[in-house]
Amino acid sequence: MKNTLIAPSVLAADFANLQRDIEMINNSEADWFHIDIMDGVFVPNISFGMPVLDAINKHAKKTIDVHLMIVDPDRYIATFKKLGADVLTVHYEASTHLHRTLQAIKAEGMKAGVALNPHTNVSLLEDVIKDIDLVCIMSVNPGFGGQSFIENTYKKVQQLKEIITRNGASTLIEIDGGVTSKNAKQLVEAGADVLVAGSFVFTAENPTQTIADLKKLTSL
Ligand code: DX5
Ligand code: ZN
Repeated sequence: MKNTLIAPSVLAADFANLQRDIEMINNSEADWFHIDIMDGVFVPNISFGMPVLDAINKHAKKTIDVHLMIVDPDRYIATFKKLGADVLTVHYEASTHLHRTLQAIKAEGMKAGVALNPHTNVSLLEDVIKDIDLVCIMSVNPGFGGQSFIENTYKKVQQLKEIITRNGASTLIEIDGGVTSKNAKQLVEAGADVLVAGSFVFTAENPTQTIADLKKLTSL
């Protein structure tokens, strides 16, 4: 049976009750914490930065998956390692020397991820796929939670899965943006391994149950 990983996005948490929401994730069937770092330059929004991640790391008991939506991510690789990142994902569109960046992330002992904006074709990763631990396919334009899922994502997942298989790579496929119980199963059938879910989890009446439902729905 496929064990799809569920990664609630902390961006949608209640920041005035952050510890409560972190404990909710700790005590749920969620697998990872998804942490969105936005700089107001690469994306038109600023989320939160180092002190907040430091606070999250003090309480989080699961894998910390950091999604950097920032320009020049190389400057902060060592910093995010110190702040507890287990997986560090940079954007393809923000990385001039992606191969070097991936090696630098791995040299710090983290898993290396690459995120693709909706317009970026998965074939651009063909030559580095074996160096990538995780590809994050953005299923919304990055910058904000609560947006609608872009349907073209299914096709991208299938194309990426084909590239991974053909190259004998073990890269995980993560989907980020607009994930709900309506698209989760189809995403996993297309080849997704990790589903990020922000507003769907945190606006639910019972977030713990919603995580359990997503987990069950995607255990194919
Ligand atoms: C968007 C972020 C996402 C976001 C997902 O820029 O990268 O991780 O938090 O939120 P939802 O699930 O609400 O689309
Ligand atoms: Zn994200």
